[in-house]
Amino acid sequence: MRTDPKTVKKHFKQSMATYSKNAVVQKFTAEKMIEKLEDMYFPSVLELGAGTGILTEILAQKCTFDEFWANDLVEKSKNYINKFVPDVKFFAGDFRKLNFNKKFDMIISNAVFQWCEDLEKVFDICKSILNKNGILAFSTFSPENFKEIKSLTGVALKYYTLEEIRNLLDNNFEIIMAEEFEQKLKFDNPLKILKHMKDTGVNSVTNGNWGIKDVKNFCENYRLKYPELTLTYAPIIVLAKLK
Ligand SMILES: C[S@@+](CC[C@H](N)C(=O)[O-])C[C@H]1O[C@@H](n2cnc3c(N)ncnc32)[C@H](O)[C@@H]1O
Repeated sequence: MRTDPKTVKKHFKQSMATYSKNAVVQKFTAEKMIEKLEDMYFPSVLELGAGTGILTEILAQKCTFDEFWANDLVEKSKNYINKFVPDVKFFAGDFRKLNFNKKFDMIISNAVFQWCEDLEKVFDICKSILNKNGILAFSTFSPENFKEIKSLTGVALKYYTLEEIRNLLDNNFEIIMAEEFEQKLKFDNPLKILKHMKDTGVNSVTNGNWGIKDVKNFCENYRLKYPELTLTYAPIIVLAKLK
């Protein structure tokens, strides 16, 4: 599935009020990533796709920095990030198109890069705006992510495997840590799965144009194929250092 930044922006903007409460796996990946960075000091940090600040809040508690820059497609994200880092400097827009005019000591991003089909370009951008020995820390998701949705609808983001990510990073970064795992969320009924995806801004994946019949078919097929009513998340977490 191709991701159009306008649609991604629209869905995340609509989900902001419900996102932090429902994004339990994204909170877990943020905590896990920060465990590896705890007590570290970075003169300057840039967070890409900061959203409602799930990662920012933990980062601001556990790491120290002099300057914090944040970015998101959605301008309103700045209001959320401000609560955790009052003097944040904010870049609104698609980070792949922005001119940062500055280099950073750490670039960090939680659950954002799966929205970028062009991961090689993303890593090139990170390389170009990191200081030497700068850290790139991110979480994303592997092709096993939402495998139930893919098998029932045929729709999925262009997820990269950990092996592909390693290969893309290999030339310019030394990988300090890379891991992948699965987490299954359990629901009472398939409608709640659709609601969970909407509440976390992921409805671009199932395409908002479904009619009642499509929803009914989806629910029936989910119950038949996945009677335990679980939804699989497959996170990848990587910490790398610019060579
Ligand atoms: C799943 S949310 C994660 C939010 C936050 N990082 C967290 O820890 O919960 C993905 C966020 O990435 C943003 N995003 C997606 N693609 C982006 C892009 N190309 N440039 C900037 N932000 C982007 C979305 O607007 C959304 O807020």
